[in-house]
Amino acid sequence: MTMKRVDRESKRRNSEVLVIGGGVIGSAIAYYLSCDGLEVTQLEAAHQANGASGHAAGMLAAGLEHFSSEELRRWAQRSQQLMGPLIKELKLHSEINVGMNDSGFVVPFIKDRKREEEFSETIERAKQKHWWNKSKLQDEIPWITKKAEGALFYPQEHQLLPAELTKAYIKGAQKNGAAFIDHCTVSRLLLDNGRVTGVETNQGTYTADKVVIAAGLGSDAILRSIGTQLNTYPVKGEMVALSMQTTQTMNGETLRYTIYTPDVYIVPKPNQEIWIGATSIPYGNDYKVSASGLNTLLHRATGWVPGIGEASFIRTWAGLRPQTVDGLPYIGAYSEVQGLYLAVGHYRNGVLLSAVTGETMSRLLSGETEDEIGIRSFSASRIIKERRGIYCC
Ligand code: GLY
Repeated sequence: MTMKRVDRESKRRNSEVLVIGGGVIGSAIAYYLSCDGLEVTQLEAAHQANGASGHAAGMLAAGLEHFSSEELRRWAQRSQQLMGPLIKELKLHSEINVGMNDSGFVVPFIKDRKREEEFSETIERAKQKHWWNKSKLQDEIPWITKKAEGALFYPQEHQLLPAELTKAYIKGAQKNGAAFIDHCTVSRLLLDNGRVTGVETNQGTYTADKVVIAAGLGSDAILRSIGTQLNTYPVKGEMVALSMQTTQTMNGETLRYTIYTPDVYIVPKPNQEIWIGATSIPYGNDYKVSASGLNTLLHRATGWVPGIGEASFIRTWAGLRPQTVDGLPYIGAYSEVQGLYLAVGHYRNGVLLSAVTGETMSRLLSGETEDEIGIRSFSASRIIKERRGIYCC
């Protein structure tokens, strides 16, 4: 073995920070920490973006998504602001095209006699925003159902390819000297005198002064090795991808805008693909796509854009979103073990929240407090209270 190889190997075995998880959250953290000049090793049990990140639609919709608290909404908005410049920076480092679609999101409305009042209120409220009346909506999206009376336009909501974003973070981190080890399953955390010292894996021991657990639904099993339990659970989501290349009604053209409604979203992707999602099945814990789930998605999508019925089927898949009992992620230091940090439970917005999670972890590891950053309610230490059955602060 040459000297150089020995150096690299020992660096991998002993780093300043170990990041557990090769999804979009772990990868963003590895990228941000490596930009701070820290020696980072990232461990992934399967391969990059294998979990929720690789199955997501990739929406960056801080204005439209529901968040469990104002603090979480503000955090998501911060992430949305970071994302534009970050993607440019990642492109320079990684040369990966993340398929950013910045055309904006459209929320169409159908006039419904039963909900007439609600509809007029929406229009009133929307007048100061971007309200498209029926003719503007038909001009912009000629294929949308003629029943749509108008739409709200959200130009600041964007979307991208989540697996590509994950790869770009990893490649960017590697350029900064980070190591990425795949097929590396963490079996337990190593502690010494109340401090974390590393992890034991199927590929041997990795040591570090700081360990960040960002393994989504896989995080629980790792924490159990030190007698701690997370209150996360899966929320299954089914999706389907279609090709618009052959549609006659739409002259083989695809949608430019993402269509976002309360019951379905239609997300245009490169190569004239559209991704339609998603069902929401709490505690669904498998990757099967049911006929009824698929039927629901297609029925809803063709209700909004009838031409979609002519599209050809490409594939369907399901993902498991990591949700927490109070709907807030666990972010920050776990106070019972020095050097141990969590970044888990981003539910359906991991892609959007990846940038701010990376930034937050960089600030925490540089010595800022949760209060200073404004993320107190995400405190990882609340699992200690949850364990005792106390569900508030
Ligand atoms: N990010 C949207 C969803 O999980 O359905």
